[in-house]
Amino acid sequence: TTSGASAAAVEKGNYRHFMQKEIFEQPTVVAQTLRSYVHQANNTVALPQIDFDLSAIKRVTIVACGTSYYAGMVAKYWFEHFARVPVDIDVASEFRYRDPVLEEGGLALFISQSGETADTLAALRHCKAAGQTIGVVVNVPTSSMAREADLLLPTHAGPEIGVASTKAFTCQLAVLAALAAHLAVKKGRMKRTEEQEVVKHLLEAPAALNAALDHDEDIAGMAHLIAPARDVLYLGRGPDYPLALEGALKLKEVSYIHAEGYASGEMKHGPIALIDEAVPVIVLAPSGPLFEKTVSNMQEVRARGGKIVLISDAEGLLEAGEGCMATIQMPKVHPLIAPLVYAVPVQLLAYHTACVKGTDVDQPRNLAKSVTVE
Ligand code: G6P
Repeated sequence: TTSGASAAAVEKGNYRHFMQKEIFEQPTVVAQTLRSYVHQANNTVALPQIDFDLSAIKRVTIVACGTSYYAGMVAKYWFEHFARVPVDIDVASEFRYRDPVLEEGGLALFISQSGETADTLAALRHCKAAGQTIGVVVNVPTSSMAREADLLLPTHAGPEIGVASTKAFTCQLAVLAALAAHLAVKKGRMKRTEEQEVVKHLLEAPAALNAALDHDEDIAGMAHLIAPARDVLYLGRGPDYPLALEGALKLKEVSYIHAEGYASGEMKHGPIALIDEAVPVIVLAPSGPLFEKTVSNMQEVRARGGKIVLISDAEGLLEAGEGCMATIQMPKVHPLIAPLVYAVPVQLLAYHTACVKGTDVDQPRNLAKSVTVE
């Protein structure tokens, strides 16, 4: 099934694939999504009207599957950092069977493009029965999850046809960042001026996404270096660690190359044993507090003959990327929006690699757009 609209009703336009079109729609749909979460007049966060007190939320439990789960992983960093609210996160298929502890005053937050994923929906109903407040970040407003939400937070990505999720992910991140700031304000952890700063950075995302998309051709060239690989490693840290996981998932889904995402600092506890000249390593290294650490992890890879693709906005990228197989210069962005912006190069790399390999990009083998059975 598709996301509400039939594939036939949505046109590919000048694009070869829906996945490609949807990657390129991101600046527009993220802007569209942000418009409904921002008070234009004073640059503060606007959430839909709700009849309960968010300041009373003591814990957030995030549950999702696939790409939506990785959006949730990024959100955990934001909720904890900004709102100082403890966050528990799990994939729905584990959560629903592990007898989770759900205390009173908890917000259970479900993230889903389709709003119909069977495991996520079952987890939602479990949490509802346990008395949790149900928040839902969803792209299909008529979906089951949307109907069962106490707090409905729609993404405005429009119908997503490509099986591998792209634009729904960046829109989920936009909504989750706005929610994190709002929760922080309600909890007295964020001043009005800080909230306005967050909103300002979020509103910079569409232009930054456009700047990232400008590297499409370079990345298409790099895809020829990735396509022959049997295994690919993705490394990231902090809020960009889930982007490493998402990059690896995208590559697996559409190019059928085995890929793994790892927290950069964890690499020496295993995956470093895999490194040789046949294993490309994609390093996500936005400038910010963790940049130096990621670069030093990258040097460990280089010292073992690893072929690195460095994706970074660092000044002097060429210098930092000395000895790398390739570098992708990202626009300079605030660390808050780096997870949105760095989604673009990992999506494009997966997309172009799949094109080189000639796989069915929009309908990869064995995968379904919406997994409505367990
Ligand atoms: C399937 C899709 C993925 C998606 C996941 C979760 O595996 O192929 O692209 O991320 O389901 O779907 P949801 O609709 O709940 O976000």
